[in-house]
Amino acid sequence: MKVLALVGSYRKGGIIDTAIDEILASAGEAGARTEKIYLIDRRIEFCTNCRTCTQAPGEQRGECIFDDDMNPILEAIAAADALVIGSPMNFGTVTAVMKRFIERLVCFACWPWGENAPTVRNPKKNKPAVIVASSAAPAVIARLATGQVKLLKKAAGLLGGKPVGVLFIGLAARKKQQAIGNRTRKKARVLGSKLVSRANH
Ligand SMILES: Cc1cc2nc3c(=O)[nH]c(=O)nc-3n(C[C@H](O)[C@H](O)[C@H](O)COP(=O)(O)O)c2cc1C
Repeated sequence: MKVLALVGSYRKGGIIDTAIDEILASAGEAGARTEKIYLIDRRIEFCTNCRTCTQAPGEQRGECIFDDDMNPILEAIAAADALVIGSPMNFGTVTAVMKRFIERLVCFACWPWGENAPTVRNPKKNKPAVIVASSAAPAVIARLATGQVKLLKKAAGLLGGKPVGVLFIGLAARKKQQAIGNRTRKKARVLGSKLVSRANH
């Protein structure tokens, strides 16, 4: 089985990246193949709200007018058995690069002109997913005060993910190069093996 991680941080080796590495290492030890995609390294155009991808009915995601890196990313996600989606909190929400990716997930909804709201094409959520988030503020405050985790869960759902755990790392901006703590590391490892056991069920 394969676990695919999407990194929405700008910092390789930062808090989100390190926490995701820990989850993937644990999933690897439990028998999974793993892959990590840094969204910042990929060419992802902004959704222009042309709604071309939302017009045709059916379960298949709609085709975007852009031929950028979204197709290979979405194909890799479709081929994965479990997902990890991580983003730092910037201005109370996900990073701009993660948001740019999430807006492009409108292709998973059918929304013909004339309809007030989109409907999700394929509501099946069968890939266990772990959400990873980090903030300068303490985790409890940041999590309660913002919709960041809800947004990441929504993105996971559109990608066929069923969240099985959230790793929220607060006080994540106290040093330029900050290591993750032991409790975070342990929780990450538990979540990594949980992804594999859930995917194998
Ligand atoms: C532009 C910007 C905006 C930020 N906004 C917030 C915020 O609204 N709330 C918060 O708690 N932390 C905020 N932070 C701190 C980041 O969440 C923190 O540095 C990040 O979680 C560390 O993750 P990384 O090492 O993967 O970059 C912000 C940081 C930057 C650079």
